[in-house]
Amino acid sequence: MTTPTIELKPSAHALSDAERVAILANPGFGRHFTDHMVTIRWTEGRGWHDGQLVPYAPISLDPATNVLHYAQEIFEGLKAYRQPDGSVATFRPEMNARRFQRSARRLAMPELPVETFIEACDALVQQDKAWVPAHGGEESLYLRPFMIATEVGLGVKPANEYLFLVIASPAGAYFPGGVKPVSIWASEDRVRAVPGGMGDAKTGGNYAASLLAQAEAAAKGCDQVCYLDAVEHKWVEELGGMNLYFVYGDRIVTPTLTGSILEGVTRDSLLTVARDLGYEAEERRVSLDEWQADSENGSLTEVFACGTAAVITPVGTVKRAGAEWKQSGGEPGKVTLRLREALLDIQRGNREDVHGWMHKL
Ligand code: COI
Repeated sequence: MTTPTIELKPSAHALSDAERVAILANPGFGRHFTDHMVTIRWTEGRGWHDGQLVPYAPISLDPATNVLHYAQEIFEGLKAYRQPDGSVATFRPEMNARRFQRSARRLAMPELPVETFIEACDALVQQDKAWVPAHGGEESLYLRPFMIATEVGLGVKPANEYLFLVIASPAGAYFPGGVKPVSIWASEDRVRAVPGGMGDAKTGGNYAASLLAQAEAAAKGCDQVCYLDAVEHKWVEELGGMNLYFVYGDRIVTPTLTGSILEGVTRDSLLTVARDLGYEAEERRVSLDEWQADSENGSLTEVFACGTAAVITPVGTVKRAGAEWKQSGGEPGKVTLRLREALLDIQRGNREDVHGWMHKL
């Protein structure tokens, strides 16, 4: 497999310093994009080639481009954080690179070498460093690497050409309320992914499939939908775009990876951070009935959602057909906030990075 060098093309498009500063003061999530992007092509017989760092701009596609019809697409999400000395570091990019390879395998796409994935992210962050928000706040620079099938034609088959891109977007809280607890609609009929399907791949199709259930959750007055397994409609899997944790006093529990759950980087990191802080951390199946009963009998003390975009967001209210209950009185729980602070401290460079997770540029 070849690893192309990423060549810098001069920027024709860049926002002024004043425009950038105004955006960084209130970036929201995924609304603004930095001045550049990375593109790398893959062609059958040639492999990866033409790595470029170019001005951020629309891409033009033939209407018959494969991805527009059969959704051969995968993506990642990771963040770059401003460190106390002004430098910049990304969080566990290698883990995202490896998941990107697993997603590629599942969608019959070529695997991008881990070092090229990291090099592409580094090149973009280095070039657009001024877009990394100041140290210490909630904000960071969200990186979105993705790959699409670019062969032109309507035959259903793995494409023979692909385009890998990395774009970046300054990000504040994913949920407008920040750490304000979110409400969850537990859907007992819609499912996100089936055994043997693509649930553990980070592909746009899984998110498209979540939108109707998400709209139904919104109609019930909830921020997020929670999916159960597709076979028994009983076991908790994940939310529309993030994993879930249950807190039983000093023990935190997250649903076991069954093949239909996305293996979140934040989910994985929290198993370790929690143990470092002296909590027990367990992966096991949790049923919706158990969730309700344990909340009502008080043994389940807190619930939170986690993901790169969501960081750690407390769950305040849960609704299912015929029932509704509050988690930790509808307030952010103590354990949730402690884990959140510990993880953010590592990412912001305020706590020793004992696991070597931070990738300095
Ligand atoms: C992420 O957390 O990076 C995701 O891709 C999830 C999405 C809801 C933004």
